[in-house]
Amino acid sequence: MNEKAVLFTIFGATGDLAKRKLYPSLFRLYKKGELAEHFAVIGTARRPWTNEFLREVVTSSIQDLIEDESQAENFASHFYYQSHDVEDTSHYVTLKNLGEELKAKYNTLGNQLFYLAMAPQFFGTIVGHLRSEEILTGEGFERLIIEKPFGSDYESAKKLNDELSCVFDEENIFRIDHYLGKEMIQNVTAVRFANHIFESIWNNKYIDNVQITFAESIGVEDRGGYYETSGALKDMVQNHILQVLSLLAMEPPTTFSDEEIRNEKVKALKAIRKYTEEEALDSFIAGQYVAGSIDGEEFVGYLEEPNVAKNSRTETFACGKFMIDNFRWSGVPFYVRTGKRMVEKGTRINVVFKQMPVDLFNNNQNTLAPNILTIYIQPTEGFSLSVNGKEIGQGFTIEPIKLSYRHNSAFLGNSPEAYEKLILDALNGERTNFSDWGEVARSWELIDVIRSAWDKNPKELATYKARTMGPKESYELLEKDGRSWAWKP
Ligand code: BG6
Repeated sequence: MNEKAVLFTIFGATGDLAKRKLYPSLFRLYKKGELAEHFAVIGTARRPWTNEFLREVVTSSIQDLIEDESQAENFASHFYYQSHDVEDTSHYVTLKNLGEELKAKYNTLGNQLFYLAMAPQFFGTIVGHLRSEEILTGEGFERLIIEKPFGSDYESAKKLNDELSCVFDEENIFRIDHYLGKEMIQNVTAVRFANHIFESIWNNKYIDNVQITFAESIGVEDRGGYYETSGALKDMVQNHILQVLSLLAMEPPTTFSDEEIRNEKVKALKAIRKYTEEEALDSFIAGQYVAGSIDGEEFVGYLEEPNVAKNSRTETFACGKFMIDNFRWSGVPFYVRTGKRMVEKGTRINVVFKQMPVDLFNNNQNTLAPNILTIYIQPTEGFSLSVNGKEIGQGFTIEPIKLSYRHNSAFLGNSPEAYEKLILDALNGERTNFSDWGEVARSWELIDVIRSAWDKNPKELATYKARTMGPKESYELLEKDGRSWAWKP
C-alpha cells in the first residue's frame, strides 16, 4: 500500500463535523495504512486549545474504533492545534510557520489539503489569505475541501465560487456532498451500467416514473438556527436529491472517468425542465410538521423546536416533480420527497416500470402490479425487484413477488463511512464523487424558481403530523397524475 504523504489543515477543528466525521474517518484511513508516518493535521479554530487538548478530543472521537491503544496514541500524536482568527492576517503567518515545520518533520512532500469545516461566509477570506500569506507554495498538490451550503441561491453561490476560483483551480476544489460517498449511491452507476437488463430498458419506453425518497425520522434537533435559513428544499433537494437524480438520469459516460461522468451529470441537470413560477407552484409542495406521536412517543411540532420562529414558514418537507426534456426521459416524471420527522429514516429510489400493454390474465383490465426496481440507500443497503408470478394453486392468479437483496450495513460493518471514502478520493485527486461547479450552478437555477414561487405566493403551508410520511398534498401530487408512491411505510 502506498501511504499518502500530506499535511491537512482543518478550519473548524473544534466543531461538531470534525469530531463526528473527520477525525474518525482519518483514523479509519490510518488503520488501513492509507495514512501512516507521513501525515500531520493542523486543527484550527478560535478557541484557545492546546495540542494536548486537541489530541484528547481526537482520541475520544475515535473511541469506538480503537482496537489497539498504542495505535490510537500514535495517530493522535500527528495532530497539532493552532488557535486562529480567520480574519487576522498575522495568524496565517503563524499557521504557515507551523505548516513548514510539520512538512519537514513528517516529510509530507509539500502536499496540502485544506478542509473548511465552517460557515461559508469565511471561505473567501480564508482562501485569499492562503494565497497572500504564501501558505500555498505550489510544491505538491494543494486541494481544498468545502462543505455545503454552497451559497443560498445562484447569485451567492456564484460569488462564493468566484472567490474560491481566484485561488484554486476547479480541479482542486472538492465540494463535499456526503451522499455521493454512500455505498449505494455509488452503486447506482453499477446497477445501470453493469446490467444489460436494466440499462437496455432505462428510458421512457419502459419506465413509467421514478421516485426518490429521502425520509428522516429526526426533527431539526439543535440546528433550528441554520434550518430556519435553509428549509428542506435547500437543505436536501438542491444538493443531495438533484445529485442522485442526475446519476439516475445521465447518459452512459464513454469511460468511467470523473470528467466523463461529470459531463454527463451536468447534461442531465441541464435537461431538467426549468419551471415557470406558475409551474413550480403546481409541481412542488412545501410542508411543515406539527405535533404527532408514534408508538406512544410524543413529538413536538416544528414551531415548538428550539431556535425556530413561532410564526416560521420554513418547510421541513419538500416534495415535487421534475421533468427531463430529452429523448430518454421525455414524459417520465421524477418524483422527489424529503422531510424531517417522517415515519422512519429511509433513503430509497423506486424505479416504476410501465404496465404490460395487455393483461392476459384479467380480461384485459390492466390490474397487474408494475415491476418496481428499488434501490435501498440507507439504513439498509441493497436492491429489490418486484416481478409478477403465478400464485401457487388452482386457478391463475397473478401475484407480485419480491426478489430482494438487502443488508444492514451498520450491522455488518462492511461499508466504509462516506467521509472516509471522500477524504481518500480527495487525497487521490479523484473527483467523481464531488459536486462540480456546473452541477451546483444548474441546481441553484432549478431551485431558485421554486423558492421564489413559494415566497411570492404565501399560501398556507401544508402540514403533517410528526412521524408520518408527509402532508396529504404529497399524495395528491401523484394522484392527479394517476400514480401513487410506491413506498408507503
Ligand atoms: C445534511 C442535512 O446534508 O444531510 C441534514 O443538512 C440531514 O439536515 C443530513 O439530516 C442527512 O444525512 P444522512 O447521511 O444522515 O442521511
